[in-house]
Amino acid sequence: MKLRIAVLAGDGIGPEISAVGVEVMRAVCARFAHEASFEYAPVGADAIDRTGDPFPEATYAVCRDADAVLFSAVGDPKYDNDPTASVRPEQGLLAMRKRLGLFANIRPVQTFRCLLHHSPLRAELVDGADFLCIRELTGGMYFGEKYQDNDRAYDTNLYTRPEIERILRVAFDYARRRRRHLTVVDKANVLASSRLWRQIAQEMAPQYPDVATDYMFVDNAAMRMIQDPRFFDVMVTENTFGDILTDEGSVISGSMGLLPSASTGTGTPLFEPIHGSWPQAAGQNIANPLAQILSVAMLFEHFDLQQEGALIRRAVDASLDACVRTPEIQVEGGAHYGTREVGEWIVGFINC
Ligand code: IPM
Ligand code: MN
Repeated sequence: MKLRIAVLAGDGIGPEISAVGVEVMRAVCARFAHEASFEYAPVGADAIDRTGDPFPEATYAVCRDADAVLFSAVGDPKYDNDPTASVRPEQGLLAMRKRLGLFANIRPVQTFRCLLHHSPLRAELVDGADFLCIRELTGGMYFGEKYQDNDRAYDTNLYTRPEIERILRVAFDYARRRRRHLTVVDKANVLASSRLWRQIAQEMAPQYPDVATDYMFVDNAAMRMIQDPRFFDVMVTENTFGDILTDEGSVISGSMGLLPSASTGTGTPLFEPIHGSWPQAAGQNIANPLAQILSVAMLFEHFDLQQEGALIRRAVDASLDACVRTPEIQVEGGAHYGTREVGEWIVGFINC
């Protein structure tokens, strides 16, 4: 298969983990005789520095013309600490999602048995937890009408029927391919937008008789996720709730550096770690590249290249078992492996 990949490394630790992701992708392509080409484009603070725009037109064109985007991270403290800044790196991310039509964000929450003790939750509680959070990504308060003056401000949580139907369809389809359990997370006891979500989900559920569909208020879901994470198989929710719940979900596995995600929709699909740009660690070769590497696995799986994805997952498991780990998950007294060294080990595994 020929794959044109847009590589958007972004800010902070982005360039370091991106480089590892690309090397892993090259190794898998060589092994399976795929032809990958990589085109690099700036995004986030890096793009603001170069062009004044966090998602320049030229970057959009590179993404639009690619088969997939391999994204790393955006964000820079320079902007976080300046509330008057008129352009921000995060705007690049939102513009990218909107322009590429990436309405479905798939965030798997998985545990790694050898890292269970890193979870702040008791090991016996999280052992075997394995669910997908499907977050609507181009609607709701993130994109609805906003207003702000000195005394009043609002954001609008607007959703239309087609937006709700298409994301629910994605969720039902994932549930079908997994353990056939879908939880629709909303706040239908208070919010009109949530009541429309629930109404449409109830209309659609009979079309998926093989899927057990249940409904949960978001406050209750937040609690259930840490009380009994194994309850969930696929959960689907609106943009803001999904943003919050997926950060909560990432804690279950014990390190934010482990979880990948995919964003799909009408345009070029995008694959990225769920963690941010960790500016304090930039250039230090300490960031965990596994979330980025697992994003590459999700990329292959998206194109139904299951063996390729499985090989990456085996390599990641093997690296953890061999204690080839970055500092935040290393065992006591374990040797020091940096971002690059973990990447090299995984590439070596893939090559042999
Ligand atoms: C995420 C991030 C973004 C979001 C920020 C950086 C705009 O938190 O991908 O979850 O809120 O969607
Ligand atoms: Mn978030």
